[in-house]
Amino acid sequence: MVNKKKQHKQEQFYKQAKKEGYRARSAYKLIDIQNRFNIFKRSFYILDLGCAPGSWLQVAKKYTEDNLTKYEDQFYHRDHYKIMGIDVNKVSPIENIYIIQKDLTLPEVQEQIESYFQNKLDLILSDASIKKIGNKFTDHIKQLNLCYDILRIVKKNLKYKGNVVIKAFQGSDFEKLAIEMKKIFRFLKSYKPASSKKKSNEIFLIGLHKK
Ligand SMILES: C[S@@+](CC[C@H](N)C(=O)[O-])C[C@H]1O[C@@H](n2cnc3c(N)ncnc32)[C@H](O)[C@@H]1O
Repeated sequence: MVNKKKQHKQEQFYKQAKKEGYRARSAYKLIDIQNRFNIFKRSFYILDLGCAPGSWLQVAKKYTEDNLTKYEDQFYHRDHYKIMGIDVNKVSPIENIYIIQKDLTLPEVQEQIESYFQNKLDLILSDASIKKIGNKFTDHIKQLNLCYDILRIVKKNLKYKGNVVIKAFQGSDFEKLAIEMKKIFRFLKSYKPASSKKKSNEIFLIGLHKK
């Protein structure tokens, strides 16, 4: 009965995504994170790592376009936005979004990020996931290694006071990653969105206000 309830909830997110034109139901994880932590506040330059099929890019574009008029004041503001998505898999084009089909850990990708954003990134998103083999511990460690690769990108490219969202898998070494991130951000939160499957050990680390 309980399982049926959970399955029903997941189906609801899937149907909602289809109805609202999102490419995946993961869109609601990011919307949930935004509602809770306001990560898109004054964000104009955004990088999305592990972006296929592109629902987070769709969400990012919506908030960023709103920001162009929402924050027209004397504080930090831009009259344009830049969004880049990176994935090893192909992503169907989205207007005004620069998509790169490559492994995010390649040095040439770092060069591309640097030349596109010039260290002015407001927000880095990562829903990147390793291919699970089914062994919880191995998967956890492999995912954390990917998170450390992403942290290197964050350290190099995210601007002062910038925000980040990184997907990790819970497990014995999770706390070490959190400690590492606490050194970089003034505030660190961990959060499991309502649309994230309960049986999955995924958890999002949200770093706010880069030091
Ligand atoms: C859960 S999906 C992302 C879904 C996406 N946020 C969306 O809403 O459409 C995870 C993605 O991470 C990508 N990925 C994992 N490791 C990667 C790497 N080293 N470089 C680039 N992409 C990677 C996978 O190819 C996969 O498409």
